[in-house]
Amino acid sequence: MTRPQRTVILAAQNAANRLADRHTPFVMNDWYVAAFGDEIKAQLLARTLLGRRLVFYRTSDKRVVALEDRCPHRSMPLSAGTLVQDTVVCAYHGFRFNSEGDCIEVPSQATCPKNVGIKAYRTLERGPVVWIWMGEAEEADLSKLPEQDWMEDRQWEHSKGFLSLQASYIRLHENLLDLTHLSFLHAKSFGTPDYAKAAFESEIGEGRFALLRNVVPTTLPPVWAVPTGLTGPGQAARIVRSEFKSLGMHEVSVRFYDCHLPENERPEFQIRTAHMPTPETATTTHYFIVHGRDFAQSDAATTRFMHDQLFVAFNEDVDGLALQEQALANTPAEDLYEFSVASDAPAVAMRRYVLARQQKEAEANSAVALRP
Ligand code: FES
Ligand SMILES: [Fe+2]
Repeated sequence: MTRPQRTVILAAQNAANRLADRHTPFVMNDWYVAAFGDEIKAQLLARTLLGRRLVFYRTSDKRVVALEDRCPHRSMPLSAGTLVQDTVVCAYHGFRFNSEGDCIEVPSQATCPKNVGIKAYRTLERGPVVWIWMGEAEEADLSKLPEQDWMEDRQWEHSKGFLSLQASYIRLHENLLDLTHLSFLHAKSFGTPDYAKAAFESEIGEGRFALLRNVVPTTLPPVWAVPTGLTGPGQAARIVRSEFKSLGMHEVSVRFYDCHLPENERPEFQIRTAHMPTPETATTTHYFIVHGRDFAQSDAATTRFMHDQLFVAFNEDVDGLALQEQALANTPAEDLYEFSVASDAPAVAMRRYVLARQQKEAEANSAVALRP
């Protein structure tokens, strides 16, 4: 049998202890996608992000409000209450909270106690998505927001969608950083057999991790072949960059061209996909997706065709990651080991970085707690 010796398994388990996984507490001081902008209306919307229950609504001047979803009087979820003139009235005893989370009315008495409000989160609406800073609102750091100009660029045609993932967000980031799986998990959708064997390069920097693959020549699957017209066998180049841009966003950018045409004569077709995983719990994830292309603008039929084909593939990831999460949960800790190969290098570095971020945040919090 080829199972490693006990010492090798122990070494693999020790190495895994230096990587973030579903047991790693969440990193709060960063931006995550809370919702698509069109989900948030002038009504209360409950959503759990990073293990915290929140309530969202849009004010009459169109701001997105995010508050802790728990009344500090007797813990009634505020999302069960009512929205009255941009304030939330608790369903139980009628305490009222404004959009900053301050308690502004207690019906049973004339005055409202001071400093009994709830946490208000900083939100930022950019293009189709609403970002949320999960740490303290006054510490929200705009420099940590990943670049996303193409999502707001009218030269790009966009579509968007949401999937509920029954797996850790760490496994989704890992899945996206190595697209070797296209040849297998997506063999029936947008993968091709040559993808896994194509040469790749890794880029590992502080907080940025990428894997680049040039699949040339290749035969494009219908999702790309039909809209680009690159339908011939071995006609196309597929140049892919998968990049972890932040805890809340991974971007896949791809260029396609006819590899039989001279470089200065061939049109290029670009697509980008922002994969934005926001942890819900340790093992469930809100998976927001925005897809864009720089060709076939204003072509609704192409948008629908590509969107439908892409979501067949993204559902394959969701199904595969859920199976993986179940296998992890059903394996006794002493038997659990995983080994990595060269194409895992960016994902392993990413997981080491996430754990280091979380540890740094925990240290900073305990230093604040210990301050006299
Ligand atoms: S629980 Fe909200 S007012 Fe009492
Ligand atoms: Fe995938």
